[in-house]
Amino acid sequence: MSEDASHYAGPNRVFSGVQPSGDLHLGNYLGALKKFVALQDEMECVYCIVDLHAITVWQDPKVLAEQTRHIAAAYLASGVDPSKAIVYNQSAVRAHSELAWYFNCVARIGWLNRMTQFKDKAGKNSEKMSVGLYDYPVLQAADILAFKATHVPVGEDQKQHLELTRDIAAKFNHDFNTPNFFPLCEPLIKGPGAKVMSLRDGLSKMSKSDPSDNSRINLTDDADIIAKKIRKAKTDPGEIPGTKDGLEGRPEVANLVGIFAALSETTDEAVLAEYEGQGFGVFKPALADLAVEKLSPITDLMSRYLADPEELNRILANAADKAAEIADPIVGDVRKIIGFCGA
Ligand code: AMP
Ligand code: TRP
Repeated sequence: MSEDASHYAGPNRVFSGVQPSGDLHLGNYLGALKKFVALQDEMECVYCIVDLHAITVWQDPKVLAEQTRHIAAAYLASGVDPSKAIVYNQSAVRAHSELAWYFNCVARIGWLNRMTQFKDKAGKNSEKMSVGLYDYPVLQAADILAFKATHVPVGEDQKQHLELTRDIAAKFNHDFNTPNFFPLCEPLIKGPGAKVMSLRDGLSKMSKSDPSDNSRINLTDDADIIAKKIRKAKTDPGEIPGTKDGLEGRPEVANLVGIFAALSETTDEAVLAEYEGQGFGVFKPALADLAVEKLSPITDLMSRYLADPEELNRILANAADKAAEIADPIVGDVRKIIGFCGA
């Protein structure tokens, strides 16, 4: 679509979300949470726990609220500060669902048919999946645009959903002749940690749904488990090369080097320069120490937050009010633009 994001005159605003559907792992931390923390001093930030997205696949009602608090605790323990950023759960703010419906009437079926995440999740069973799972990216566009967010920090797997968000924004702006009503959001994906791969297979991404727990480092793993998983991580008999060319065809090694760089906030090149010629007997213990040093404080803080569920509920409820204050007028304007009677 031809519209240029630079014509949007509204304020910069960050929006991102994480699903409360299981334990968070190192990929979520490096691809998303760590970026959330860095951005909260730069722009207004809205960080959502997307429970409406989670229920696109079955969630046990007995644990959904607890899993939501678990993600809230992970946000806070990673350094997201509720006095700076808005941290709330999606179902508490009606604007998400309402705008998603309007966007259902803007998005085209052909656009959704191209979404690779649905194809990956549904596999051969697409006929048996919920309509919500298919429509998931439209709700994601509504999340972002209910806040007129301009910047969206995510891991690489979300790139296609953000392109769809831009297409929906541009089509809405065009169809209703309201140029630049919605911004065309900018994905913030780049940087080490945008795509953390499985510790067992350097070609598939680290994921909560991988059946092998050894494939990922969970934010709840203790120091011994982290060290054990890194010790067991798949590598090859070679040494650490001196340059990135030497990582060619060695996805597992590239992944460990990338994790090292992301955790120590440096580049792959700097890590390679430091460890050139070393074997994994040296590199893996150094990586394990680094991972424990960075993640253990988060794990400890998470359990402290989780020990007080009422306090987490209070933080989320306060933030939901603030979120609604931003989103409700925007969705109110959408109603007027569409032309509903009484809007
Ligand atoms: P999810 O757990 O699928 O809700 O993802 C939450 C956030 O973590 C999203 O921004 C994802 O793009 C990001 N993410 C998930 N898995 C990875 C991974 N293996 N590497 C980097 N980022 C990831
Ligand atoms: N789809 C995202 C994921 O699985 C989660 C998400 C929902 C999101 N709404 C969002 C991310 C809006 C960024 C912006 O990771």
